[in-house]
Amino acid sequence: MKVVLIMAGGSGERFWPLSTREKPKQLLKIFSEKSMIRETVDRVLPIVPKENIFISTNILQWEGIHRELEEIPVDNIIIEPMGRDTASAIGYGAIVIDERFKGCSIELIVLPADHMIKKEASFREVLLKGCQEAKENSVIVTLGIKPTRPETGYGYIEVKKVKDREELKEGNIYRVKRFREKPNQEVAETYVNSGNYLWNSGMFIFSMETIFKNFQVLMEDHWDILKDLREVVKGEVTGEKLSNLAKPYFEKFEKISIDYGIMEQSKNIRVIPCDIGWSDLGSYNAFSEIYTPDSNGNITKGRVVAFESKENIVIGSDFTISLLGVDNLVVVKGENNNILIAKRSRVQDIKKLLDLYRSML
Ligand code: GDD
Ligand code: MG
Repeated sequence: MKVVLIMAGGSGERFWPLSTREKPKQLLKIFSEKSMIRETVDRVLPIVPKENIFISTNILQWEGIHRELEEIPVDNIIIEPMGRDTASAIGYGAIVIDERFKGCSIELIVLPADHMIKKEASFREVLLKGCQEAKENSVIVTLGIKPTRPETGYGYIEVKKVKDREELKEGNIYRVKRFREKPNQEVAETYVNSGNYLWNSGMFIFSMETIFKNFQVLMEDHWDILKDLREVVKGEVTGEKLSNLAKPYFEKFEKISIDYGIMEQSKNIRVIPCDIGWSDLGSYNAFSEIYTPDSNGNITKGRVVAFESKENIVIGSDFTISLLGVDNLVVVKGENNNILIAKRSRVQDIKKLLDLYRSML
């Protein structure tokens, strides 16, 4: 049986002030008419019934997600008492799902809530193939993307080739030699040049037995807490009540992602190179992957007047933003009367800006 777990607990801080803690990136309609989480759900509905779609999120966001995804049973929204990164989110999600479908053999498809995938049919085909592989060979299946730049914000998957010069074929399943999360620029460059590495798309498929085994062997501390959490989940409470009961256990989780905790250590990973039109949409610069700039290289949304200004990203809304003689800026009118003006080259540092902003409130 196929089950989807959508990880939607991140705050998408790099999209501030469009995104806020209560209305994070996955709930925004910035890249299409639909919110990103709605796109994520709609993409898998043709292959997984809504009763088998679960969302892992937190206290601040769950109501917004519930309103956005009305057809998803409310008890399928797993509310974490606090964000402890993706290892705990996936471990806890897997326990809740395992208890819900007691005795069933499950292939769990774990998806981020905030990516764009242009070739949806190909994407679903890859998922089905991955589920079969995860079930038959008790492995963790990842979806690999051909890298186009030495991005340091992604994980890299080294493919174990049968022959040295072998061309990687989309849709084939390969053994993984090594998984390396977020290397530095220099290392990322060697990876991209070698041709043996793929980007980790952040999507994983495994059977329950496989992921539990991996926790047991590679993340013992997490596994001990998860075993205790299973007893709490067995009490059959859900929603905020369950979240409160889970709180003392979550406090004990080390804050670490699945990529560092399991993927970098596990020996049993497979990768499917895929051409699915994937984009992580990690920062404002992603607007240039989605929208075509005007003749001056400006990308604008809302009412914008730009005179002798080039290569800017300007997102307005209810009032007009006018630019005069400025280049390479990001100008955003966001929530709660906040305006951001930043150099395009600095958008990765919005997190740091936010720390200062919050300390001044
Ligand atoms: N429920 C829950 N709880 N979800 C979380 C939490 C948490 O504590 N932390 C993050 N998430 C969600 C985010 O909302 C996102 O959908 C997903 O988990 C991945 O987290 P990110 O924080 O966005 O990870 P990343 O982008 O730095 O790195 C991951 O994705 C890259 C591709 O986009 C890694 O898997 C990389 O290896 C990968 O290349
Ligand atoms: Mg991400």
